[in-house]
Amino acid sequence: MKQGVLPVPLSGPYLGEREEELVLEVMRSGRLSLGPTIDRFEELFAERVGAPYAAAVSSGTAGLHLLCIAAAIGPGDEVITTPYSFAATANCFVYEGGVPVFADVDPRTLNVDPGAVEAAVTPRTRAIVAVDIYGYPCELAALQRIAERHGLALIQDSCEALGAEYRGAPLGSHGPSCVFAFYPNKQITTGEGGIVTTHSEEEWRLLRSLRNQGRGDAGGWLEHVRLGFNYRIDDIRAAIGIGQLERLDEILTLRERVAKRYEELLHGIDGVELPCADDDTHRRSWFVYVVMVPDNATRERVIGVFEREGIGYNRYLPSIHLQPYMRERYGFREGLCPVSEDASARTLALPFHTGLEANAQERVADVLASAL
Ligand SMILES: Cc1ncc(COP(=O)(O)O)c(C=O)c1O
Repeated sequence: MKQGVLPVPLSGPYLGEREEELVLEVMRSGRLSLGPTIDRFEELFAERVGAPYAAAVSSGTAGLHLLCIAAAIGPGDEVITTPYSFAATANCFVYEGGVPVFADVDPRTLNVDPGAVEAAVTPRTRAIVAVDIYGYPCELAALQRIAERHGLALIQDSCEALGAEYRGAPLGSHGPSCVFAFYPNKQITTGEGGIVTTHSEEEWRLLRSLRNQGRGDAGGWLEHVRLGFNYRIDDIRAAIGIGQLERLDEILTLRERVAKRYEELLHGIDGVELPCADDDTHRRSWFVYVVMVPDNATRERVIGVFEREGIGYNRYLPSIHLQPYMRERYGFREGLCPVSEDASARTLALPFHTGLEANAQERVADVLASAL
């Protein structure tokens, strides 16, 4: 990095005194785990997204894994998913022996294309894992129809999409079980953490047991009625989550403002494609700000300049099927999902977080324009 420039970090949490106060309360209460703060967080979260039940867990990945177990995905079952996502979207069923089948994405939204999903269904298909990538809702109605027609489970990976709306209602309210994640770059954070929302009381009870070492509702501490995990969140993290949830509206508004400012600053710069706009059906919750440049060589040139100028970036997102372990295990190669692969070569995440200041964004825009 050049001397004297002010670095602009890629991401950062947005925490305040309220979270500190709630954490202190928990610390002083002596109930650090399996306590009432977790129940409260779950109730508030479920209410907020319009789902009847929520089960908090130790990470988004843990939540996805538990939903795959609830869907009874087992060795040899095919699971159709998107290649353009974070690796955990596919890992969650690979843990159970599920076989990934990647359906290509829509070039505008970068979400899985329902036509490609339909074409990928075979007699061995067990489930679909759909992602709301970068907080933009997936084609839920079409995917629900496919799942119903073929008797498949539909798992929604909404890890990046808390606050997004599909057909005027928040993700989580539509029926499929959803997972949201709380790593510090997400809309709200608990440090590490995640939550599963469900419309089934039976599934909710199962999730609570699975995350807690397979303990039953009525049994004791040392009785395990099924093979379980320690995927629990603790009360300290739940307290941070409550503080964050209390100002989710403020957070979403500020993030939208940051995205709008980028749109104004970047539109018209030759060679920059902006994230797709909302429409009547889809309302994005801003997670990251990812632009597309003309090709990989241009992206690498921009990255070189960003590094010199202290500007945070990431190559969001590589296609999952081309990850080294996926190639090795399943033999996936280039050309399987050309739209995803093209996006993976050209997408670039710019600094983006709730508290990002206008002058920092102006610097990012100036440096990007000059690099292009
Ligand atoms: C789409 C998607 N799925 C799953 C995850 C996994 O969440 P976690 O990091 O909380 O395990 C993430 C987090 O980055 C994500 O973006």
